[in-house]
Amino acid sequence: MFDNTNYINTIISSGNDDKAIERASEILRQGGLVAFPTETVYGLGADALNEDASAKIYAAKGRPSDNPLIVHIADTKAVYELAESVPEKAVMLMEAFWPGPLTIILNKKKIVPDGTTGGLDTVAIRMPSHPVAMKLIKESGVYIAAPSANTSGRPSPTLAEHVIEDMNGRIDMILDGGAVGIGIESTIVDLTGETPTILRPGYITKKMLEEIIGDVSIDRAIIEPDPNLRPKAPGMKYTHYAPKGEVTIVESEQNDKKVIDKINSLIAEKAAQGFKTAVIATKDNAPYYNCDNVLIVGEADKGVTISANLYAILRKCDTIGAEYIYSEALNQNELGGAIMNRLLKAAGHRVIKVH
Ligand code: TXA
Ligand code: MG
Repeated sequence: MFDNTNYINTIISSGNDDKAIERASEILRQGGLVAFPTETVYGLGADALNEDASAKIYAAKGRPSDNPLIVHIADTKAVYELAESVPEKAVMLMEAFWPGPLTIILNKKKIVPDGTTGGLDTVAIRMPSHPVAMKLIKESGVYIAAPSANTSGRPSPTLAEHVIEDMNGRIDMILDGGAVGIGIESTIVDLTGETPTILRPGYITKKMLEEIIGDVSIDRAIIEPDPNLRPKAPGMKYTHYAPKGEVTIVESEQNDKKVIDKINSLIAEKAAQGFKTAVIATKDNAPYYNCDNVLIVGEADKGVTISANLYAILRKCDTIGAEYIYSEALNQNELGGAIMNRLLKAAGHRVIKVH
């Protein structure tokens, strides 16, 4: 776990302080690591064209080296420097959704080192809309390779405090931008094949993409938990987002009362055995649970109220030491696909359906 020999003094500053952005920019140019807020989750940045700098990201996160990084840019001109060819559909998506929570995969040019792309011939590119991220990319003058700023396997950070929890003493600097807005990582679309394919669902939905570029498919490996299917985004194959306790999703096609009754009976059973339990509940249902730790994740029909809180709540499960965690299915909203993709992983696909 924590390696004292590599301990460095992490500077923690407000992302709204121009002096701090200047210092962070200098660190990036020198090949160091800076965590910064984006509109999705906090990123852990390094100079994307400097292989040694990218290597430090893998070390700080404990990330498998075959898992490629997203390159963050602040100007669409950068795409032409990083990508071998830029298809028309890429241009259409860039115009429609950038800056914003969309990552596109294109064939890479040689200047993008293998150390940044995990040895792949393709590169993931995104232009974030968060003002601190934008400022940092512009001021530093570097393209910033940045995965989420969590220890590999933990939920992505949505507050600077989460980054401090995971990265303090391992990286050079953290820029605090407060709570992020969206809370789950960007949608990833692969544009290197015949049909554009979603490799990771996010705030930009399939429907939104199809309104701009027509047919879009979804990588099957991310919707079916089939061990024989290999996700096209290497990072999607790892266990992720999981708290230490065992998470179970309880779902009913009929009504919420069935879910509440089932969760209450599971909690009573575990509590009787002396286990610490928690419930992940939507706001209207929360009062009906008989549990000491009812964690309200958001409003059932408003996706972004849930996505913004989900990771903080999964981390909270660890803070309170919950051993068994029961969650409502959080699919009755416009971000249901993206949210359930993360929740199912946190639950190791453990789902109880009540009839
Ligand atoms: O919202 C986000 O995208 C955040 C913020 C910081 O921008 N970043 C983020 O990065 O989520 P990370 O490294 O946690 O997730 C990147 C995902 C991984 O699943 C990785 O395998 C995939 O993108 N990926 C990166 N480059 C790829 C490539 N060339 N081909 C396929 N998948 C790629
Ligand atoms: Mg990540």
